[in-house]
Amino acid sequence: MAESLSYRLPRSVVPHHYHLEFWPDLSQDRFSGKSDVTIDVVERVQEFVLNGAGIEVDSATLELAQGRVLSAEVTYHAAEEQVVLTWPEFVESGTYHLLMNFTGALAEDLRGFYRTTVTAADGSRLVIASTQCESTDARRVFPGWDEPDFKATFSITLTVDAGLTALSNGQEISNVDDGTGKRRVSFAKTIPMSTYLVALVVGPFVLTEPVMVDKVAVRIAARADLAHLTDLAQESAEATLRFFQEYFGIAYPGEKIDHVAIPEFAAGAMENLGCVTYRENALLIDRQRSSPMEQMRVVTVIAHETAHMWFGDLVTMRWWNGLWLNEAFATFMELLAADALHPEWDVWTTFGPGRAYALSVDGLASTRPIEFPVGPPSEAAAMFDVLTYEKGGAVLRALEQYLGPEVFRRGIGRYLKKHRYGNTETADLWDALEEESGQPVRTVMDSWVVQRGYPMVRVAWDKQAKILRVHQEPFRYLGSAEGIWRIPLVIGIGRPSGQSESRRVLLDENPLEMSLPEDTEYVLVNQGGWGFYRVAYDRALWDRLLAGRSQFSALERLGLVDDAFAAVLADQLPLDQAVRLWRTFPGETDPDVWSALYRQLTVLNQIGDEDDRAAVRAFSVKIAAPLLNELGFDAKAGENVRKRRLRALVVRLLGVIGEDPSVREQAHQRLRGHFAKSEAISPDLLPAIVEVVAASADAKDWENFYHQFKAASNPQDETRYLYALAEFRQPELIQRTLDLYQSPEVKIQDGILAISRALSNRYARQLTWDLVEASWQKFLDKYPHQMMQYLVQPIGLITEDGLAERTVQWIDDHPIEEVGRQMAQAKEFQTIHRQLAKRLKGRIAEILDA
Ligand code: BES
Ligand code: ZN
Repeated sequence: MAESLSYRLPRSVVPHHYHLEFWPDLSQDRFSGKSDVTIDVVERVQEFVLNGAGIEVDSATLELAQGRVLSAEVTYHAAEEQVVLTWPEFVESGTYHLLMNFTGALAEDLRGFYRTTVTAADGSRLVIASTQCESTDARRVFPGWDEPDFKATFSITLTVDAGLTALSNGQEISNVDDGTGKRRVSFAKTIPMSTYLVALVVGPFVLTEPVMVDKVAVRIAARADLAHLTDLAQESAEATLRFFQEYFGIAYPGEKIDHVAIPEFAAGAMENLGCVTYRENALLIDRQRSSPMEQMRVVTVIAHETAHMWFGDLVTMRWWNGLWLNEAFATFMELLAADALHPEWDVWTTFGPGRAYALSVDGLASTRPIEFPVGPPSEAAAMFDVLTYEKGGAVLRALEQYLGPEVFRRGIGRYLKKHRYGNTETADLWDALEEESGQPVRTVMDSWVVQRGYPMVRVAWDKQAKILRVHQEPFRYLGSAEGIWRIPLVIGIGRPSGQSESRRVLLDENPLEMSLPEDTEYVLVNQGGWGFYRVAYDRALWDRLLAGRSQFSALERLGLVDDAFAAVLADQLPLDQAVRLWRTFPGETDPDVWSALYRQLTVLNQIGDEDDRAAVRAFSVKIAAPLLNELGFDAKAGENVRKRRLRALVVRLLGVIGEDPSVREQAHQRLRGHFAKSEAISPDLLPAIVEVVAASADAKDWENFYHQFKAASNPQDETRYLYALAEFRQPELIQRTLDLYQSPEVKIQDGILAISRALSNRYARQLTWDLVEASWQKFLDKYPHQMMQYLVQPIGLITEDGLAERTVQWIDDHPIEEVGRQMAQAKEFQTIHRQLAKRLKGRIAEILDA
């Protein structure tokens, strides 16, 4: 702890207002800056300790009374990312102006104030400078108090080349010639906000005409080549802003929001107050040429960042241990808004697989609680994971359903109003929700938020006694775990003639007995599918569930499929019981339930030998082919989104896992027509077709895909073909793909993600891993370290002797601070899958065939 504390700033000096001025020099890859910070010295001190990293503070002076000025001696504590200003005398408590001059580099490192270079369609080279400050990189942009609870107001000025656009958090208030032909652009003072939200953007951007939502101007910014792809973003930015103003009952705290597409971007998007930044493919999209999932992604990302304007920007966690107060809420709110705007998408069901992924990670010994102690910056970075986002979002959804949506909404509004412009702990949230609901929110939620893992609820039916017995135990794939959860159970009891009855009860450490009507047809625990837990049924209940499943919602069915396979992985259920459920899939109509199965078949496919894989192929065709026959390859008029997504999934399953020759032939033929522009493939189906073709492609296809990547007219097509090159199966083509992935033709933001795809491809993983080992240091130099998690994740599915041990040995010998937990998790997944492989050795074919 002492070591962690050395990263924290003393509270003896507190900033109130930053006046920041920047001169970025895009041709020299440098910037200089000047600050005038209004501070309160609360305690007589001779030293100010601030954050600063990778910047030089050329001068620091303090204005005293009667025009006296002190100059500080500046020392750097590089390891702690701190700058210490030592004054020639003690500074008495009071309010002062601290003036500093500083300089820094604009590197292409995707953090702090960084540079992006991109070649435009006309061959010209564009240079953009922009910031990414979260979690702890504002200190690379200016010297300051870079911890989330040092909130201050900001007045920012940027001096840039004439012809370039400059954006920041506030509204532009002046734009004048600085006397040297450059433009000096000043922005309005912000509300009090945390340093990690500071935004600077400079470059050749085209902006949409502002549209007013109440008193807020909304614009989208993109480089000229992509400026025609902003309409979905514009519409969604307006609609989500309107939605949240109403939902929270609080006006947006500013005069404008710009949503800016940055060509190189480490994360997906960043919620800088009033100046939200994105990867291009998370904001810009061609509605006519994109799939439902791609459009959903754009809308949900915009909704997510817009929700942050309240959750995160207006009210902020006190410290990074409470990151879930930002990210879990934004995840929950993004779905709430997307569901309101596009009910036909059924986004809560589409969240099912994301939640299932959280359940899988949270079933590991190497999981962590949602709230978790954070010391140094690398630990803050490590908090941005599936436990914060998906588990956090899921437990909030469960809470919302438990309290009722309206009570929940009012509780949230109360919390935001009480703490606006301030910082909070999780307890503040529980207080507000308890006040509004009168329910024991804190006791219920503590078990989900401060305790890691989750329970398996076991149910058994004592038919003689007409009693249902229910109890909980911790779920863990390997070994045992401890914990007791307060579980708001919803139990559905199926009665004859399709009726069902719901019973609600809070399950704690005490087992529960519940009388059941004699004519009970089935019992479904976790009715509605909101609870963050798994359910294990006794054999009699399982038999009846299989019979009754057509009456369940898609989310409930997804839960059954996911829980059953998790129990198989944990060696608690024989595979043949899960396969009984799989056999009902020709009648399954939901794409997200199919995608859960797709994932499970992928696991079997990865761990099995050649005979097993042949059986997985045959099984996939057996369950999916009848459905494709019924659906047809082409959409029918008036089909809804989910039907169209279903078709795409079934095609993918048949073509990629099933290796169905007729589907592959169809896919090749259609893609040829698409490339020749003679017959365009419907965007619903294009992603699936591209994947099917990649899995059965030759050298000519490689050339075609490469060409499509280079000539792509929108960001979705660009990444689609780039990543599809990872799915090829012949060694010489994989080698070409890997060469491409390391070349400057691939953006820094995409490199690791692309290599990760290749590592997930069982035909490519040996070659890819060779490359990973050989290039490890180069990768560390080139890519943001947090992105290395994507290289580590696929290790979880590598089970073959030799390569499996090698990957584990390597990550043991090459730890990366930001990715330590993900490394442990990947190793544990690998063990789980290897043990499954051992248990099933030589039996998969027999089980699937039975
Ligand atoms: N605050 C994050 C961005 C971020 C992520 C900053 C990691 C620093 C480290 C942002 O709000 C976010 O959550 N972005 C997501 C997209 C979102 C729709 C889930 C992302 O970047 O993946
Ligand atoms: Zn977020």
